[in-house]
Amino acid sequence: MPLRKQIIDEKLPLHVAIIMDGNGRWARQRGLERIFGHQQGVIALREIIETAAELGIKFLTLYAFSTENWGRPDDEVNALMGIMVQSLNKETETLLKNNIKLSAIGDVNRLADDVRERLSETLKLTSECTGLNLLVALSYSSRWEITEAARKISEEIIGGKLNPAEIKEEDIEKYLTTSGIPDPELMIRTSGELRISNFLLWQLAYAELYFTDILWPDFGKDDFYRAIIDFQKRERRFGKTSEQVLDK
Ligand code: IPE
Ligand code: IPE
Ligand code: MG
Repeated sequence: MPLRKQIIDEKLPLHVAIIMDGNGRWARQRGLERIFGHQQGVIALREIIETAAELGIKFLTLYAFSTENWGRPDDEVNALMGIMVQSLNKETETLLKNNIKLSAIGDVNRLADDVRERLSETLKLTSECTGLNLLVALSYSSRWEITEAARKISEEIIGGKLNPAEIKEEDIEKYLTTSGIPDPELMIRTSGELRISNFLLWQLAYAELYFTDILWPDFGKDDFYRAIIDFQKRERRFGKTSEQVLDK
């Protein structure tokens, strides 16, 4: 049976998060500079966004640049920022045409002025779109996010708006960059690395994790289908017993 047919549309993950890893290795394997891998990575990214929209996935979060990635050589950081601006210039129309709403999570204040301005323009332009919600994690790390949340919660307490004795999980959730967005149900990481790398630590609490050796520039539609098919075969127990889950 073709892969697409094996996907049960009623059981699609509501939110998929992806760590797009392996661009550098993809380039090096071909004797190219790492930046070529990043350029090729954008092509893969386009295909995956398109596939998510076609399938009717509601939320897709892509890890594009981590807080830790600021520590890469300046040349690479600058080239990545250049690719970002270029892609936004080129693809904003496509987002609008496909009713895709772009949001950014991360410390965008660290981005260079031109990147930040271009980004906020696209965010504004697509803000009324009602199809796929595309979240891009840019200058993002989970510990940065949780630290920020702690800071904001402390301010609320000092301002007398929040009573420490009454803090609930929902109060914490409210101060995260993903506030109001359902937690990812499926997290995919490419390139064979078996780690989370400071990505959505709170939100991934009960996500199904899917790891593949495929390098990001090679990750295509069929690979995305395979991850979803695998997800749909898992039994999600949320701490309960298998019997309890099957009884439902
Ligand atoms: C992922 O690919 C893209 C970013 C982190 C920006 P890498 O650049 O990490 O590729 P590898 O892991 O070195 O192969
Ligand atoms: C994670 O990839 C960040 C992104 C994909 C943007 P890295 O390649 O930076 O992760 P580590 O440092 O190898 O774990
Ligand atoms: Mg990497």
